[in-house]
Amino acid sequence: MVIDLKTRTVGNVKVPSPGFGGMGLSNVYGPANDEESKEVLRHAIKIGCTFWDTADIYGSGHNEELIGAVLKEGDNRSKVFLATKFGNVFDPVTKKSTGQVRGDATYIRECIDASIKRLGTTPDLYYQHRVDPKVSLEETFGTLEQLRKEGKFKYIGMSEPSAETLRKATKIAKIDALQIEYSPWTPDIETNGLLDACRELNIPIIAYSPLGRGFLTGRYKSFEELDPSDRRRQHPRFSKEHFDSNMQIVDKLSAIASKRNVTPAQLALAWVAAQGTDIIPIPGTKSIARLDENWASRDVALTDEDFKEIRAAVDGFKAGGNRYPEQQMKAIGI
Ligand SMILES: NC(=O)c1ccc[n+]([C@@H]2O[C@H](COP(=O)([O-])OP(=O)(O)OC[C@H]3O[C@@H](n4cnc5c(N)ncnc54)[C@H](OP(=O)(O)O)[C@@H]3O)[C@@H](O)[C@H]2O)c1
Repeated sequence: MVIDLKTRTVGNVKVPSPGFGGMGLSNVYGPANDEESKEVLRHAIKIGCTFWDTADIYGSGHNEELIGAVLKEGDNRSKVFLATKFGNVFDPVTKKSTGQVRGDATYIRECIDASIKRLGTTPDLYYQHRVDPKVSLEETFGTLEQLRKEGKFKYIGMSEPSAETLRKATKIAKIDALQIEYSPWTPDIETNGLLDACRELNIPIIAYSPLGRGFLTGRYKSFEELDPSDRRRQHPRFSKEHFDSNMQIVDKLSAIASKRNVTPAQLALAWVAAQGTDIIPIPGTKSIARLDENWASRDVALTDEDFKEIRAAVDGFKAGGNRYPEQQMKAIGI
């Protein structure tokens, strides 16, 4: 079956796919340059790639400020569907993550006001970045529902909950989006209940790290290539221990991509988007050329044969290493 890759619905809004993930613009995957990043964001608006994702923790406020600066230009704000997140705590003075997760009412109220200030606008979609097990879902989602009524945002999302928590949260507030890692090397939602729950509850899936944080593009050949400041150096899948064995899936996907005359990045994005009209990949890049390349994935029509080959590669592979460093693994699937 041929599936449209270009338009998706979040809440009652039609959004373009793929979206754009802003995290890398705040020195997370090696150094970024603000003026170049703004050019990338302006280019995204120009080509119509206007479903944007940020979070307060990305660069400890920096990412929201950067995005806010571009949204203030001309009528840019009206063109973008904007999502941000709260829940991963950072120290506003040192700008360092504290490693804590908070979902209490006082904290959420502080966070949304701080995000609105940095963005210079209210976001359309507000996600809980990680579930806080110390706080009742009634408190977190009751507060979010109240804030929505106050006009601070239109839609509520969750990121990285368990399927059970997602289901419980929908009894307290209307959940309009689930953001979760999904890609050919992270098909976990297909078997951990989240995909089923979203389909049953009619919640779209915002697929983050759809390029496997860049690994699936085939661009990196070794751990050493990563900048010393690059956070992926702490990610087990990029470690020296697992790097080479994880290249197996890259080699398989690259071979399929080359037969189809597309890049491995385009193949991965087209595959993720083709898994359902409810799935939206949000790749990130610091480069206009790579943004264009990723945007063109919406024109890649994979054939039945392609799907069969990619599925065989996905099912025949088990990534070496966890998705996150040990400490961060404790905050997912709660
Ligand atoms: N909810 C969560 O917990 C969570 C977690 C992680 C990410 N996210 C969101 O999801 C977004 C995307 O995820 P991500 O940034 O982790 O990973 P990603 O989109 O899978 O990959 C980004 C990496 O791939 C590289 N890249 C992008 N396009 C490329 C291409 N065509 N060819 C070669 N390399 C390419 C980028 O490098 P260049 O920049 O040099 O192009 C960057 O290093 C983030 O920006 C963030 O908004 C959410």
